[in-house]
Amino acid sequence: MPRIELVTGDITVQHVDAVVNAANSSLLGGGGVDGAIHAAGGPEILAECRRLRAITLPDGLPTGEAVATTAGRLPARWVIHTVGPVWPGGPGPEADARRLLLAAAYRNSLGLAESLGAASVALPAVSAGVYGWPAPDAARVALSTAAEATSPELIRFVLFSPAMHDVFADAAAALGIAAGTPD
Ligand code: APR
Repeated sequence: MPRIELVTGDITVQHVDAVVNAANSSLLGGGGVDGAIHAAGGPEILAECRRLRAITLPDGLPTGEAVATTAGRLPARWVIHTVGPVWPGGPGPEADARRLLLAAAYRNSLGLAESLGAASVALPAVSAGVYGWPAPDAARVALSTAAEATSPELIRFVLFSPAMHDVFADAAAALGIAAGTPD
């Protein structure tokens, strides 16, 4: 059973084996955590993303999928890029369908981290920024997906504000998931 942690901070300074990026399908960068990871990690990450686009992902990375690159100058070995769904603007069948893709983004990122041999992984609140997903629902999907994982040993959600940290802590409590803080 992995240890699940919640921390308020910047994902680019986390000393873990793998850092998950909330990318877009182009894999060519953007704002938010994507912009922060490329800015801190340096040009090697984008160079590898471009190679992936040229060779294996000519149409881009589909929503819910995950792919790994070097972490460049980050204190990590890999960046795992995943693409979350955009919030459709309200509840209903479309939101329900896209919620499955959000869960897949987390599940595939954790599965890829495991296959790489990562013992620790840091993840952001995928889709809860520019993509507009309501934070409480995003937190529920993130934490329940992490709770179903068998590895990596350490799963750390890195929340960019105390408010988002509180949303995740409330979701963990409501789900009965023990979420610790880094030592
Ligand atoms: N560390 C941790 N979390 C961060 C950081 C950071 N350095 N910067 C932003 N965040 C948080 C945001 O506050 C939000 O809670 O990450 C969460 C996800 O927000 P976004 O980065 O906007 O990601 P998302 O909502 O999935 O939208 C993806 O935004 O940046 C573009 O290229 C990206 O097109 C893609 C889209």
